[in-house]
Amino acid sequence: MIIRSWLFVPGDSERKLEKARGNEADALILDLEDSVADDRQEIARKMVCAYLEDRGDRSRQQLWVRINPLDTDLSMPDLEAVMPGVPDGICLPKVYTAADTKTLCDRLSKLEAEHGLAPMSTKIITVATETAASLLTFHTYLEAENRTPRLTAMTWGAEDLAAALGASNNRGPDGDYDDVYILGKSLCLAACRALDVQPVGVLITDFRDLDGLEADCLRDRQAGFIGKIAIHPAQSEVINRAFTPSDDEVAFARRVVAVFEDNPGVGTIGLDGKMLDMPHLKQARNVLATYEQIQAMG
Ligand code: COA
Ligand code: MG
Repeated sequence: MIIRSWLFVPGDSERKLEKARGNEADALILDLEDSVADDRQEIARKMVCAYLEDRGDRSRQQLWVRINPLDTDLSMPDLEAVMPGVPDGICLPKVYTAADTKTLCDRLSKLEAEHGLAPMSTKIITVATETAASLLTFHTYLEAENRTPRLTAMTWGAEDLAAALGASNNRGPDGDYDDVYILGKSLCLAACRALDVQPVGVLITDFRDLDGLEADCLRDRQAGFIGKIAIHPAQSEVINRAFTPSDDEVAFARRVVAVFEDNPGVGTIGLDGKMLDMPHLKQARNVLATYEQIQAMG
């Protein structure tokens, strides 16, 4: 299953949890971290677990949970509270190095055993660029001792990183992210592709600007990202559409594959007056594979 839209839902909001049920998002991330006030932590854990237990069928929409960072004493109680509800995955914020994913992996293994769940069934998405250290440690994801098949996606963020860097603003005069955030974005994408995990585009805080969201999704998609974080229910549908290959793209991809199939043993060929070679064939196959996986989701 390809998760195109990942909608954050504050874990202590009955109204938003209900609203999210009927939303088009491919996955919800039930939040126990920043959208929950400290004095609501305990109630949020109970509400999230009850919600997970109530929604056992995840075939249309996966249910993930964002826990508090591992360097707080909230993260373990968060995990212990939600594992009985069998979340599809855990979102890990404020990562310092990939050793953090390994630590989470070990904790999940213990809890899976305690609750009789299949080993390694709980997946992980990291928010990979929220600390200053994280920008300097992306290579640690490639180290054998930190690798875990649980890690299925990574996304990046510019808000917490700005705070970590002492910045008062993360954008330049033109409104685009400053260089250091683009560095984080680029490292996140490269690490994901090196590991063969899903690179997920950054959230857009301006939730009324759906045209801006669509443009950003298309730019992310061109760059190699698959899917995007949403923070408002109206964003999911826009994200799903933007990350679904269009009929024209699918038709062109089929023609590219066909022209190579019709000319076996040829490494480069012309189509519509343009040169095609192996990277184009690979890209066409990627488009068709993505399209087929989305079709299979129904
Ligand atoms: N998930 C589910 N439902 C949501 C939602 C979300 N993330 N955001 C808004 N809604 C609901 C609202 O409750 C409202 O429902 P109602 O009609 O039953 O009252 C409806 O969608 C329309 O909401 P709207 O009035 O447009 O927005 P808002 O001002 O209520 O909320 C935010 C704006 C930003 C506070 C809200 O979208 C939100 O909480 N987003 C998630 C924040 C979060 O999780 N942050 C952590 C990750 S960065
Ligand atoms: Mg909090």
